[in-house]
Amino acid sequence: MEFTKTKALKGEITVPGDKSISHRAVMFGALSLGTTEVRNFLQGADCLSTISCFKKLGVDIENTPDCIRIHGKGLHGLTAPADTLDTGNSGTTTRMISGILSGQSFESILNGDESIQKRPMKRIIDPLSMMGAELISIRDNGCAPLRIIGKHLHGIHYTSPVASAQVKSAVLLAGLYADTPTSVTEPFVSRNHSEIMLNYFGGNVTCKGTTATILPNPVLKGQSVSVPGDISSAAYFIAAGLIVPGSEILIKNVGINPTRDGLLHVCREMGADLTLLNENCDNGEPTADILVRHSSLKGITVGGSMIPTLIDELPVVAVLACFAKGTTVIKDAQELKVKESNRIDVMVNNLASMGADIQATEDGMVIKGGTGLHGSIIKSHKDHRIAMSFAIAALASSGTTHIEDADCVNISYPGFYQDLARLNN
Ligand code: S3P
Repeated sequence: MEFTKTKALKGEITVPGDKSISHRAVMFGALSLGTTEVRNFLQGADCLSTISCFKKLGVDIENTPDCIRIHGKGLHGLTAPADTLDTGNSGTTTRMISGILSGQSFESILNGDESIQKRPMKRIIDPLSMMGAELISIRDNGCAPLRIIGKHLHGIHYTSPVASAQVKSAVLLAGLYADTPTSVTEPFVSRNHSEIMLNYFGGNVTCKGTTATILPNPVLKGQSVSVPGDISSAAYFIAAGLIVPGSEILIKNVGINPTRDGLLHVCREMGADLTLLNENCDNGEPTADILVRHSSLKGITVGGSMIPTLIDELPVVAVLACFAKGTTVIKDAQELKVKESNRIDVMVNNLASMGADIQATEDGMVIKGGTGLHGSIIKSHKDHRIAMSFAIAALASSGTTHIEDADCVNISYPGFYQDLARLNN
């Protein structure tokens, strides 16, 4: 797919529902008694993988134009799947469902696509095994496919070496089935949607500093969930608005949970003109409309506790840095290496091919911005966030940018290119 420089982007846009919240709504709805209705569910490939896995576990899920309706089975109502659970490209599905399957009275096999089969699963195998489950990496390489033999679980206090909501959530979900409370301490707080939504469904999760604790065996009850727009999808329009001269974009109803809003802080520190309007709250998740105007940006350092709050936005932060005066340093972000692609290498190589002054480091990258970019051939490595980041970079670059495997955006944002084109008219 090809992209060229654009004139000012103007108008209003609503981005699809939050991916993390959509996954959780299906999972927690499945484990609840009664019906859960999910509005503004993200119909992206990753969340559809979660639906397909729970259908195979015996849960009746209706995907209507209005809402997703999940007829929950309660904590102990899932049934053994007839064949392998296919988690597609979704790390969230793979890791979180592993926590649930660890506490079942049956065995399951989990597998996903080529990228999932390379992503580290030892980070969940270790704590879930400590709780008493048996998780086997079938190729003995610490990755999927995984064989999970559910067991009676014991509560643990797990100190995670990584700030990862997928790891934290997997352990908390296994904690639903444990004999005593389970807690997870992380180096920095990662996104807390599981904690918020479990409590909304009747669970008992408390958070203190970087520790979350869950009490076992609650009665979860089906709820109505309204999914806010995904800030990780809004990020591309925020970036586009900032770097394309003359732009003014209003992005409606975006989730601004403080464990996810790092991009807003970083953009403001870079000098961005961002305004939050209509601040609200939906099922415990804060939302707002975000008004973004073209701004002249300056380089900054991004690292430490900020990183988990914008981990998925770092590729587009690297794009912003190319259009900012001075040096931007992204550090403490070694997790980027184990996402859908190695996002340090992939961003650095592709931005360098567009003429950026950029160096990879062990835990991030250093970018000297403000010199302009030119079109080139971008290898997305079928990573949705890479494809979307370069579609934005191209809008403010000279020449033509060709993005390979551009349709991978369907993982988190079906309709992305159409939405972008609409602002371009
Ligand atoms: C997610 C957590 C993050 C994020 C991913 C979604 C979640 O992954 O990158 O896109 O929904 O919990 P990690 O837990 O690996 O940081």
